[in-house]
Amino acid sequence: MGTEMIYRGHDSQTPSHAYTPKPPKPWLSSVSRAARYLVREQRLIFVLVGIAVASLLFIIVPKTTATSYISTIHTATAEDPYRIPSRTLQPYHGSSFGSAIMNPTGKIPLGLKRKGLRIVVTGGAGFVGSHLVDRLIARGDSVIVVDNFFTGRKENLIHHFGNPRFELIRHDVVEPILLEVDQIYHLACPASPVHYKFNPHKTNVVGTLNMLGLAKRVGARFLLTSTSEVYGDPLQHPQVETYWGNVNPIGVRSCYDEGKRTAETLTMDYHRGANVEVRIARIFNTYGPRMCIDDGRVVSNFVAQALRKEPLTVYGDGKQTRSFQYVSDLVEGLIRLMEGEHVGPFNLGNPGEFTMLELAHVVQETIEPNARIVFRANTQDDPHKRKPDISKAKELLGWEPTIPLRKGLPLMVSDFRTRIFGDHKGRLRG
Ligand SMILES: NC(=O)c1ccc[n+]([C@@H]2O[C@H](COP(=O)([O-])OP(=O)(O)OC[C@H]3O[C@@H](n4cnc5c(N)ncnc54)[C@H](O)[C@@H]3O)[C@@H](O)[C@H]2O)c1
Repeated sequence: MGTEMIYRGHDSQTPSHAYTPKPPKPWLSSVSRAARYLVREQRLIFVLVGIAVASLLFIIVPKTTATSYISTIHTATAEDPYRIPSRTLQPYHGSSFGSAIMNPTGKIPLGLKRKGLRIVVTGGAGFVGSHLVDRLIARGDSVIVVDNFFTGRKENLIHHFGNPRFELIRHDVVEPILLEVDQIYHLACPASPVHYKFNPHKTNVVGTLNMLGLAKRVGARFLLTSTSEVYGDPLQHPQVETYWGNVNPIGVRSCYDEGKRTAETLTMDYHRGANVEVRIARIFNTYGPRMCIDDGRVVSNFVAQALRKEPLTVYGDGKQTRSFQYVSDLVEGLIRLMEGEHVGPFNLGNPGEFTMLELAHVVQETIEPNARIVFRANTQDDPHKRKPDISKAKELLGWEPTIPLRKGLPLMVSDFRTRIFGDHKGRLRG
């Protein structure tokens, strides 16, 4: 039997109650009904107020979000060194947050929260590094510390153990490492005279090369912590970033000074040759809690000696000058540099200039008025003067130190006391 399509439509009856569409209402009457609805019981006012509130929120809230992510902005004081002066900050244009989310005015659309960055801090178990880690974690980023514990200590980071946004890797930066990150703060390097004779050149050259290679590979922004030592025994005072320095290339300090100069060269080569986004900070003498005790740096030496009631050792005639910056000021400068748009180099230091003898007197006033001062022969190539010109950082980063020596020094004393004498004795002596 062949298949055939049979039309049965003629069997169906048209029902008597068939739907007949209503004739369209005149549009004028719908509009006037809507208008009457709006006007009734002040509904129009409610609508207008709603629009005004929404617009206000759209204008104000994104502004707050855009600035608050940079570093939990607040005002730095001696009592709370992590408070930062409230001032206009440049919006960050980093890789994982920025152009894609922020519009050109720097505002983040309502409802979009700042996404935390993933950041590597090499040398993060050290003095400066651990304070930097505190700040980055506090503002909501994920931090991976890479450190070989040559001079760093796990105790400096112990308060972050168990935080899912914190990781600690024991690793020597002279070996390559692959990590997917947005930013690299490269601090790893023995920084004190006692430690830096143990091969800082390899760390500064090979370690910096490895970290620059990582930055290139994963597209991360790279910040080098260089040093005022690149100016050597300066013939220009105060030192401006354009000054090329006066370094003895074969002296006892040159392993550190020339190591950092090479690290700066490598950083700029990767910037020009491989388009890596880089930043260079030239750090001047910095002090604060968690400094290595007895590492040959003058502030930690004097504080430890005064607490132990030993004489304060001044090398040479004590007339050589240095500038001393409190660590929270430095951390603020480093973050501003990383988030800003300028490569540098930038001097980050406190322009307040003290002779070694003046520093010894401040330590006497703060800790032990009866501390004796003894003089020893000076070390080779000790710079006679050091004072940063920070005009560039002031102008381009909106940064300047806020904590003078007399306010900063007492802030490190209780930390040193606890570490030298232990909790119990520290409290008794306190
Ligand atoms: N503190 C200052 O006054 C000052 C001044 C100028 C420059 N800087 C620079 O700032 C950075 C931090 O200095 P700091 O005062 O915190 O010194 P620090 O010695 O306390 O910290 C350095 C950290 O780097 C780690 N490290 C050293 N070699 C390493 C390697 N090969 N691989 C992995 N980790 C390694 C150490 O274990 C330590 O945790 C250094 O690069 C230093 O040159 C500091």
